[in-house]
Amino acid sequence: MSVEPDPRVVAGLDVWESLPVGQQPQWPDASEVRRVRDRLAGLPPLVFAGEADALRAQLAAASRGDAFVLQGGDCAETFAEATADNIRNKIKTILQMAVVLTYGASLPVVKMGRMAGQYAKPRSSDVETRDGVTLPAFRGDIINGFEFTPEARTPDPDRLLEAYHTSASTLNLIRAFTTGGFASLLRVHEWNRGFTANPAYSRYEQLAAEIDRAIRFMSACGADVDALRAVDFYSAHEGLLLDYERPLTRIDSRTGLPYDCSAHFLWIGERTRQLDSAHVDFFSRVQNPLGVKLGPTTTGDDAIALMDRLNPTGEAGRLTFVTRMGAGKVRDLLPALVEKVTADGRPVTWVCDPMHGNGITSASGYKTRRFSDVMDEVAGFFEVHRALGTVPGGLHVELTGDDVTEVLGGTEEIDDEGLARRYETLVDPRLNHQQSLEMAFQVVELLRRA
Ligand code: TRP
Ligand code: MN
Repeated sequence: MSVEPDPRVVAGLDVWESLPVGQQPQWPDASEVRRVRDRLAGLPPLVFAGEADALRAQLAAASRGDAFVLQGGDCAETFAEATADNIRNKIKTILQMAVVLTYGASLPVVKMGRMAGQYAKPRSSDVETRDGVTLPAFRGDIINGFEFTPEARTPDPDRLLEAYHTSASTLNLIRAFTTGGFASLLRVHEWNRGFTANPAYSRYEQLAAEIDRAIRFMSACGADVDALRAVDFYSAHEGLLLDYERPLTRIDSRTGLPYDCSAHFLWIGERTRQLDSAHVDFFSRVQNPLGVKLGPTTTGDDAIALMDRLNPTGEAGRLTFVTRMGAGKVRDLLPALVEKVTADGRPVTWVCDPMHGNGITSASGYKTRRFSDVMDEVAGFFEVHRALGTVPGGLHVELTGDDVTEVLGGTEEIDDEGLARRYETLVDPRLNHQQSLEMAFQVVELLRRA
């Protein structure tokens, strides 16, 4: 059975073109963008409507406290880093965190990567000046190159196609890893990456041994362990570049409704979530579960107005509010927001982004964050929800599976000088593998108290 789409629904997908739109590049040639958009519109979808619906149901469970969301990955993915090793290490890290949380808190974990499409970045300025030379700012690999030359920095629409193909190959590997045996709990030991001398790693080894015993016990009892062999893993990115999101939006033949098939989950950033903006209009018209980032200036009325636009009927799982207040503010500012939204009655899933409100510049000049601030915001998020009787539904973090040195602190005590050792990010500092695991162990303690 297929349902014909309502022509008004299809026409609605282009309304954003006449609305104020922030954070888009200035393409040198509009006809080139047209050509690329037409090409993208003819390529297969990267995800399917039914998968987005399944994720929506799992996010609804998280809004009730029956699951916990773990969303993690790079601040900005790059084409060059879409290698098998990098993807595998990131997946391993997220699986390890997920297993720590699932086992430690006895809760299903909804696993989502900032992966397979996280290529567009909002910037505070359109241009960057170095030594008297001014060029367009780097807006992510889907738009221009990081290198500070006029060639690299000129927005190039062919990059949209490269982003699509890189997302497709990333997603292909993710699907292979998560359903082809690699993610099986029978291999829980193999995901550990470091020296077990490190406290987070030895703790992990211990937990893995407990899981092994539990699995052997269950098999001995004749229990069905099929559910242990694979995971559902969802892709997510900031829905920023509308010249990309629009052509990847497809009408689902089953329902006749539009889905943005570039990823399962899209979020609208703090800088593009104005109520009358192109972004809010466009995403209000697709069926995917959506996130909106809410920073410290968000009022309760802003949040309600966003619900009116993005989830008017109050469908559970449709809307996730990702709060990023900063460690120093979360305990003061989050309660009023949560209270106002809760009083409204329409459900949202509350997720904590403890990264973006905690940026600092190190004495040595690096853009960094302190692990202790990150964890303090997470703790504040749990405290606020516990005090209000509402549900802390998940975490949204910037991480990598490698041993980079971009965030200060953690048990390995990365200090100011240490940052220089392996600072590789092009945009924001990410938790390294070991800091990510440490975070998971600490969040277990918070979940047990929640
Ligand atoms: N399928 C279950 C789940 O996703 C169990 C599972 C299998 C799992 N592999 C995992 C859980 C890896 C966490 C990490 O929860
Ligand atoms: Mn970031």
